[in-house]
Amino acid sequence: MNMQKDNYLWWRDGVIYQIYPRSFADSNGDGIGDLRGIIDRLDYLAELGVDAIWLSPIFPSPDVDFGYDVADYRGIDPKFGSMEDFEELLAQAHQRNLHIILDLVLNHTSDQHPWFVEARQSKESSFHDYYIWRDPAPGGKPPNNWAAIFGGSAWEYDEGAGQYYLHLFYKEQVDLNWRNPAVYQEMMDLFRYWCDKGVDGFRLDVFNLWYKHADLPDNPRQFPPSPPFFRPWDQQKHIYDYDQPEMMPALAEIRSILDSYPARYAVGETFPEDAASAARYSQPGYLHAAFNFEFTHCQWLARPFQRAIERYEQLLSDEQWPCYVLGNHDLSRPATRYARGDEDGRLKVAAAMLMTLRGTPFIYYGDEIGQRDIPIRKKEDVLDPIGKSFWPFFKGRDGCRAPMQWNSCENAGFSSTQPWLPVNADYSTRNVENQAGDPDSLLTFYRQLLTLRREHPALHRGSLHMLIEDPRFVIAYERRYEDETFMVLLNFSNFERALEISELSASEWWTPVLSNYPYDQLVTEDSVINLQPNQALILIKNQV
Ligand code: NOJ
Repeated sequence: MNMQKDNYLWWRDGVIYQIYPRSFADSNGDGIGDLRGIIDRLDYLAELGVDAIWLSPIFPSPDVDFGYDVADYRGIDPKFGSMEDFEELLAQAHQRNLHIILDLVLNHTSDQHPWFVEARQSKESSFHDYYIWRDPAPGGKPPNNWAAIFGGSAWEYDEGAGQYYLHLFYKEQVDLNWRNPAVYQEMMDLFRYWCDKGVDGFRLDVFNLWYKHADLPDNPRQFPPSPPFFRPWDQQKHIYDYDQPEMMPALAEIRSILDSYPARYAVGETFPEDAASAARYSQPGYLHAAFNFEFTHCQWLARPFQRAIERYEQLLSDEQWPCYVLGNHDLSRPATRYARGDEDGRLKVAAAMLMTLRGTPFIYYGDEIGQRDIPIRKKEDVLDPIGKSFWPFFKGRDGCRAPMQWNSCENAGFSSTQPWLPVNADYSTRNVENQAGDPDSLLTFYRQLLTLRREHPALHRGSLHMLIEDPRFVIAYERRYEDETFMVLLNFSNFERALEISELSASEWWTPVLSNYPYDQLVTEDSVINLQPNQALILIKNQV
């Protein structure tokens, strides 16, 4: 790939930070985060060194699924602020060279969206065909066997319309009929509307569900069921309810709209998570990227992580660009999955990997200080509806959505009042203020990694070459761009590991540039590097 050093492209070379707006910073003391709160923290994000902010949905919503049930695609929910607040956020972010990505939930609207309110009045309503309706099957049964991802049938009978409507998530999240040209046009116009406002990019929620097979045939049974096994959804082969051929032309049109503006971006959430379909939808001319969630399923071992990287690299062509995530608002936090107790060593290894791979890294708010999930102990405390319906098999997603821990003041500096979800009990020690002043903290390490990555094209756009074929404990790779080469060594084990550098890379001289251990502990004799337990070490090849 032939790219100019000065040709820094924010979404490709930069780092994207996900904010769950309810939980980031509450400026008006109602216990819920808001846009002013985010504006107040933009300097923090600029100092962290990220290039863009992905905001989980900020549109008006009755919050059955906390924003993922949208009642107006063109407005701002008053609990987050006004359109003026949003415009100020955009302007202030841009002043700091931070880009704004909105989360578009276009598979379904809230049942409170005026389109659906109209649509359910009668079959004759001009909005009826905005959604997917069918008459009852004989005996009043649902029209087919489709299951909802959040449990039960995907069909809900509506008295007003005298028909069933389709919902692949909650019944309050009504699936749109993308085959209706009016809906399609609404959606294309929406991309233009937000681009015209100056928004830089979009995260597309479960985009590959937009189209269903036109005839809505029954899905065949899946036996044995697929994980997590307990839902009717897991007992079907999903042939007809997503990944339909109409997806590709729709994405191509969205791409051409985005390409008619400078440097716009779209990243898609494929559902279910699958690296191959992420690769298919991010081919040139379609999405810029699609999430590969494989890391979030890896055990803390070198081999599964390396295999996930290799598989993804193989699936993508040279023109495609990977993107990596360790967590998001639907998943248990990486600290909860990987860390041992209160110790952050493994999180530093994970951070070093995320920031030095070939691809765009995403950071979920709070992961840069190693926030842990809050414990969910009682069903009565659960706010996420799927946590209630699948209790005790699945306790919902509240755990990873707790308030950002800014300081050791009451409510972790998130709010002057009791927050909508409890703050993690460890906030008095684990918080941004403490870590910002600590040279050995995870936050400091993240900042150092981001600075290094930004300064060196080899670390963001360079080629990637694995150095150990079948790693047991240590992942080692080279990143190279023009005359610059870095070596990244990641010790996934809790023990010291000796590595023969000659085996890794001829008899070159390397200089350490960043590690989570002091360099004087880096014993190199006879070209042997002794990596400390959970040490991440980045070295640069000396110029001869
Ligand atoms: C995926 C989102 O990430 C999740 O939070 C949401 O519940 C579903 N899509 C439905 O919109």
